[in-house]
Amino acid sequence: MAAGTGRVLPLLAVAAALAAALLYTAPFSKSLGGEGCSLLPHGHFWIASQRVVALGRVGPAAVEVKEGLINAIAVGDYRSFVLRRPLVDYGDAVIMPGLIDVHAHLDEPGREEWEGFSTGTRAAAAGGITTLVDMPLNSFPSTVSEETLKLKVDAARDKLYVDVGFWGGLVPENALNPSKLESLLNAGVLGLKSFMCPSGINDFPMTNSTHIEEGLVTLAKYKRPLLIHAERIPDVSSDEELDGELDPRSYATYLKSRTPAWEESAVRDLNRAMKDTEVGGRSEGAHLHIVHLSDSKTTLDLLKDAKHSGAKVTIETCPHYLAFSAEEVPDGDTRFKCSPPIRDAANKENLWEALLDGHIDMLSSDHSPSTPDLKLMEEGNFMKAWGGISSLQFVLPVTWSHGKKYGITLNQLASWWSEKPAELAGQKNKGSILPGYHADIVVWKPEAQFHLDDTHAVYHKHRNISAYLGKELSGKVLSTFVRGNLVFAEGKHAGAACGATILAK
Ligand SMILES: *[C@@H]1O[C@H](CO)[C@@H](O)[C@H](O)[C@H]1NC(C)=O
Ligand SMILES: *[C@@H]1O[C@H](CO)[C@@H](O)[C@H](O)[C@H]1NC(C)=O
Ligand SMILES: [Zn+2]
Repeated sequence: MAAGTGRVLPLLAVAAALAAALLYTAPFSKSLGGEGCSLLPHGHFWIASQRVVALGRVGPAAVEVKEGLINAIAVGDYRSFVLRRPLVDYGDAVIMPGLIDVHAHLDEPGREEWEGFSTGTRAAAAGGITTLVDMPLNSFPSTVSEETLKLKVDAARDKLYVDVGFWGGLVPENALNPSKLESLLNAGVLGLKSFMCPSGINDFPMTNSTHIEEGLVTLAKYKRPLLIHAERIPDVSSDEELDGELDPRSYATYLKSRTPAWEESAVRDLNRAMKDTEVGGRSEGAHLHIVHLSDSKTTLDLLKDAKHSGAKVTIETCPHYLAFSAEEVPDGDTRFKCSPPIRDAANKENLWEALLDGHIDMLSSDHSPSTPDLKLMEEGNFMKAWGGISSLQFVLPVTWSHGKKYGITLNQLASWWSEKPAELAGQKNKGSILPGYHADIVVWKPEAQFHLDDTHAVYHKHRNISAYLGKELSGKVLSTFVRGNLVFAEGKHAGAACGATILAK
């Protein structure tokens, strides 16, 4: 057991101390929990520490949790407060909004051998993620209709340790058909996702700019986002570079096959779609979200220009683009294969700069696992291996460990991992520690170092295929609360899986 966790102190009433505290209160509301949902046997309690990330600051505070919601925040020296209920004192650990991962592939139904709702959300809980939004592809069938969304929701029943929403797919089959799109949106997907290049999944074909522009018109009515995998095979190919005998075990070969020109070409092709989202545009009210940006040069510049001229565009990148550079990917180590690719060290520096400057809005995991055999580890063939990095449980320590060098703050972490993602996913009562919000909270120790090796408790279905294995990280998750339920603490999960499916209304 880590120091500073889990001390429950019954406190006596001392009325005068309250005056020193700023108290924010919220009306009572019902929780969703039940037997075995929580490792803490209380529906009404306080948690406190010297470093609570709330109200735009970091400092000593106590947070009152009641019936799954944050009821009050008492800012200041909480040790002198009057609280009648149990208090869990986390000492100098950080209490922060739980992470919201808007880009994860849980692969169920249909490819449970890749991940699945149970293992995926257990890993999320252990990593401090309290909500995730599942991608519409890599499961089978893809989530592209009301019926296929229903299969997802049914498959998730009683398996979720955190709350889970769903993106739907914008594909050629539904993109030009508003009534099909409306039935998918009415069924509750939080927004749509499309690919501008082949997705690698047969029942998830790519869309062209017409599909995207038409799809946005329907999305505008619902005020839900379109997430775009923005890579497109450039019109003018530079295939001459690929001529000759290139070693498929060399990471450089893969990099040459998928240059920044792919990302640039996609964003140029989105020009009209982005314009349509401006005030007075054909899709005013719609919102384009570029997933996993890797190219920090021309592609980012084009997106900055579009934002500047009033397009509703947001950008995410992923920890693997911020943690690794192409130079350090070992030959044959296909655990690092993802698309777009991890690029060179200078590109990584620029991504950090763009994140710190606010041009990149948020982070996501793009947790995209597969069975170990599809990674072709023995052959080490980058050109044939499945692309996708397994990372869900590690994103908080990875972001922190690498971000420390750049002086990132806890408030920035909360913005990139909680506030902005909540906004993207339309979750108005998640993403911040504020009265009335869901009590979705991670408690963690930024200073605690660990070596991520085989003995570490990893809850992904496939423990040993992550690019992060073998790395030294700092930032250890102590406790994770989902709507007031303590779903993970000190290496243990709650007995029952009480996460909710989130459907948009
Ligand atoms: C996109 O594909 C559709 C067919 O699904 C076609 O009608 C349309 O012209 C295409 N648009 C572009 C820009 O190629
Ligand atoms: C990972 O474990 C599987 C068995 O679960 C094994 O087949 C595979 O070779 C291992 N891969 C690595 C990279 O250790
Ligand atoms: Zn993805």
